[in-house]
Amino acid sequence: MRVTAVHQDSPLRGAPPAIRLDHASFGYGGRPFTEGVNLSVAQGEVVALLGPNGSGKSTTVRGLLGLTDHIAGSVEVLGTPLQDLADRSRLGYVPQRHTLSSSVRSTVREVIATGQLASRPWWRRATAADRATVTEAADTVGLADRLDSDVATLSGGQQRRVLIARALASRPDVLIMDEPTAGVDAANQVVLATVLRRLAALGVTMLVVTHELAALRGIVDRIVEMDAGHVSFDGTPRQYAEHRAAVSRAADAGHHHHYDVHHHDDEHDEPSGVLLSGAGPMDGPVEDGES
Ligand SMILES: Nc1ncnc2c1ncn2[C@@H]1O[C@H](COP(=O)(O)OP(=O)(O)OP(=O)(O)O)[C@@H](O)[C@H]1O
Ligand SMILES: [Mg+2]
Repeated sequence: MRVTAVHQDSPLRGAPPAIRLDHASFGYGGRPFTEGVNLSVAQGEVVALLGPNGSGKSTTVRGLLGLTDHIAGSVEVLGTPLQDLADRSRLGYVPQRHTLSSSVRSTVREVIATGQLASRPWWRRATAADRATVTEAADTVGLADRLDSDVATLSGGQQRRVLIARALASRPDVLIMDEPTAGVDAANQVVLATVLRRLAALGVTMLVVTHELAALRGIVDRIVEMDAGHVSFDGTPRQYAEHRAAVSRAADAGHHHHYDVHHHDDEHDEPSGVLLSGAGPMDGPVEDGES
């Protein structure tokens, strides 16, 4: 069920995938947690990584960054094996559950600029182009007017946007975000979704771990779901909606089996209405299989 967003006539056709995991296993202290993970993200593609708490999403994305133990399988970033990737700044990363400490006094501009340190030799000062990139990154996340604010005075949602801008400041080819919308209120989720939509339109490749798929409606090209350290689904948002509908029908059938034996019209069931409505498959809650 391999699907890519790169169309036949795309100039990216033939380009190596931005990310390619082949039977990858990552873990801690030399012991694997994820096993046999196959995951490929084409350049320019936006992939959502879903799955219950503890299923291995962070272990996998942190593995891609060399932050968890790489135990088996191959990991390639932009066609280069991870261990040979000299310039890690080609990967931008927004970690999970991370806001900025309120005890450190720094401005939005300073925090965003730290995103450039890894890609600049220690002896070279920021150039005018570097400074322009910082301003541009702040603008992309809608914080251009807060560049000189103390980060401690920003809300949690605004701080998440500062961290996205910091990841953008090194002009990464691939942006990996671990739950960028977690703990962000509905209004700010809309703002963040707008940021992600803007990045997608710019052609930034994104791998986004999330529990809030609805917030990313229309942005995501492909959905990968993990369960207990394995990939349990990989397909388009439409296929995912069908998959969820099938799971929930199966659960319903199990539920009603003992007292609803005359109900035999399962094979005549229409596909889930949400798929057929103009609103698209990403509308509404997706975690409704347990009802
Ligand atoms: N630093 C660590 N050392 C040892 N085990 C860890 C470490 N970090 C995570 N784990 C374990 O790895 C497993 C997978 O955790 P992971 O953080 O990848 O889950 P997740 O899918 O990101 O969950 P969540 O949705 O809660 O963020 C868990 O059982 C967790 O306890
Ligand atoms: Mg996690």
